[in-house]
Amino acid sequence: MIYAAIMGFGTIGSGVYEVLYGNRDRIKAACGQEIEVKYVLDLRDFPGSPAEDKVVHDFSVIVSDPEVRLVVETMGGLNPAYPFVKACLEAGKHVATSNKALVAAHGSELLRIAREKNVNFQFEGSVGGGIPIIRTIYRCLAGETISEITGVLNGTTNYILTKMSKEGSAFDAALKEAQRLGYAEQDPTADVEGHDTCRKIAILTALVTGKEIHYEDIHTEGITGITAEDHLYADKLGMAIRLLGSSRIEGDRVYAWVAPVMAGRDNPLHSVSGVYNGILIRSNMLGTSMYYGSGAGKLQTASAVVADMIEEASNPDTNVLAGWSADPQPIEPIGDLRRRFFLRLSGQCARDAGDPGICAGTAREYLGDCRVVTADGLDGEYGLLTEPMSESRFAEASAALARAAEAEGNRLIQTLRVEE
Ligand code: HSE
Repeated sequence: MIYAAIMGFGTIGSGVYEVLYGNRDRIKAACGQEIEVKYVLDLRDFPGSPAEDKVVHDFSVIVSDPEVRLVVETMGGLNPAYPFVKACLEAGKHVATSNKALVAAHGSELLRIAREKNVNFQFEGSVGGGIPIIRTIYRCLAGETISEITGVLNGTTNYILTKMSKEGSAFDAALKEAQRLGYAEQDPTADVEGHDTCRKIAILTALVTGKEIHYEDIHTEGITGITAEDHLYADKLGMAIRLLGSSRIEGDRVYAWVAPVMAGRDNPLHSVSGVYNGILIRSNMLGTSMYYGSGAGKLQTASAVVADMIEEASNPDTNVLAGWSADPQPIEPIGDLRRRFFLRLSGQCARDAGDPGICAGTAREYLGDCRVVTADGLDGEYGLLTEPMSESRFAEASAALARAAEAEGNRLIQTLRVEE
């Protein structure tokens, strides 16, 4: 028997309890002993819950109990999660967490303490919900040189984008539904502004490079500016709008970004819809591999946390995760990255006399030949799909085009990146 404590008995913490006892026999067989929850730490009481008698309100009870070997942190946020987790590791206890904010901000320090104390700090549930992506990278792909990770990494925003596109739902209504289903963060700003995706791609990139990624260095855009009209154009192009987190690793150079993109039909992430996450990895021997599953949710995330607990219970005296060091990995500016872009402009599009599918006039002057896109029911505006160009060239050209359009009494309504 190995004793555990769960800190934070909200959606994920109570899910961990449910998985541990729902699959008790299976888990016992997997780690050769029973995992018994001795304490549940929360500010609240839980009358009627099976964990009712285990609730404590004082963290010192857990950290000072030598019988507790495994600690689950599912409180979220940094305070008090960070000091509590640090104290548990320093006390020689293994920790499993689903808290990506904690891992992205303090991962290298907590991994170092775990190594020094010969315990484990594991965080499978922090990225991709129930998808086993962390263990896949550090164990299954350990012999691969990874050059790219790109993923739909946030269930809430993918749920919102899918609802808007398929059912014509309003942004706010779709977000409320995602909150009701337990997908969203306590403060959903982290989801919709892309911060959650940013932390997740930072964690995956740190695992690949073995160095600390400052997530603040990653160019990050969210989905709050995406409208129903954008989805109409995406539909027309056979594309889907997805919030992607991506990193490209070229030797010492690492590019990373988070932004909503129009994903083409041939892009494997095009078909990742609803609360599902998909993570595409390119590596030198295996080539392209893709990992898909539930990206958020109570039992889905809890399942990943329990997998960490099983690994820790199976290796009570060994540090198994290499993780990353405190050496900082610089992130390159994204200006050199090349791709197509999509734009929406108000007014009527001037078209090429020989090929009316191609723009002419002011748009061509700044952006070169672009395909003209129209969407049913949207009069008084049009869309343009550019040829591939660098981010920095597009930023300059679209800003100049916006000024020129304004001088003609029109405006640049939207710009989106395209991933074919
Ligand atoms: N809010 C997160 C999401 C939870 O929607 O993906 C899982 O990390």
